Amino acid sequence: MKIQFRIRRYNPNDRNAPEPYYQAYTVEVALGMTVLEALLKISEEQDSTLSFRKSCRSAICGSCAMTVNGFSRLACNLQVLPEFQKMGGMTIEPLANHRAVKDLVVDMTPFWNKMEKVNPFLMPTEKTASNAVSAEDEELIDQSQKCIMCACCNAECNALEIDERFVAPAALAKAWRFVGDVREGHGVKRLERLSEEHGMWDCVRCVHCTQYCPKGVAPLKQIERLRSAAMKAGILDNPGAKHVEAMAESVEKFGRLDEAAMTFKTLGFLKSLGKIPLGIRMELHGKMPHPYIVPQIEGIEEVREIYREAAAREKEKKKE
Ligand code: SF4
Ligand code: SF4
Ligand code: FES
Repeated sequence: MKIQFRIRRYNPNDRNAPEPYYQAYTVEVALGMTVLEALLKISEEQDSTLSFRKSCRSAICGSCAMTVNGFSRLACNLQVLPEFQKMGGMTIEPLANHRAVKDLVVDMTPFWNKMEKVNPFLMPTEKTASNAVSAEDEELIDQSQKCIMCACCNAECNALEIDERFVAPAALAKAWRFVGDVREGHGVKRLERLSEEHGMWDCVRCVHCTQYCPKGVAPLKQIERLRSAAMKAGILDNPGAKHVEAMAESVEKFGRLDEAAMTFKTLGFLKSLGKIPLGIRMELHGKMPHPYIVPQIEGIEEVREIYREAAAREKEKKKE
């Protein structure tokens, strides 16, 4: 079957076409052919100037990540025919949230810089180095060890799209790999740094990183583990932790979110004043309850029973 590939081309050094444009290539596609194999065919038979990265061809090196039909994928791990049948076309672009260097090749420097920032190696102390790792301990960090550094998660991250300083999901998942390791000796220090601005609390929980990670690392789950560990370690003096506390308090009190009170508790009085116009617009659109009259939901006692049960369980756990 012949399929047309629409590929985003870009070569800043080409004086005749320095701006990005799309080029179409028709490829005879065989059953089982991957997107990477199709790109190699184009490069070998039609256009040797087409640039893209690849190495292992078996979904373990992470180099062939690109945007296929709008979503971040590993080209070597995606068959052309099912994708074409599902999406009705085949458009290939470089990874989003990354600067294209040439065609499908992106600059990975910011990705590696973020990774470096979280110290991606174990830092044991004399006391922790010989801690035995049980099967349960291993289970806790198992997912985060599967990362192949493909950057698909960062490419899909909504928080990174609006703030390039955000540490982003790949590095956060890597951070949990070490914070969650029982041999790690500087976990609290790491959590303190990750709780700073542009750190783990800037994630907006859109779940894209987990949805598009090709290796099942589930970065959002690792971020939640980091957040929970930070709060348990008493690292609470930051907007993220304050927001969680305000949210829990509001649900226990009313069974719903008291957005106005949460904003004040999260940001403090002065910073919250700037949010008043937004708050008024939200209220006018029925997006938040009146700031002074927050009605309790029916069955609030059942909600409070959940809180009591959770507190009792936490107490039990601490005794063990
Ligand atoms: S869940 Fe958080 S880290 Fe993951 S993609 Fe969304 S904003 Fe980014
Ligand atoms: S967490 Fe998943 S998507 Fe992100 S870099 Fe690692 S393997 Fe790729
Ligand atoms: S070529 Fe290695 S992951 Fe695709």
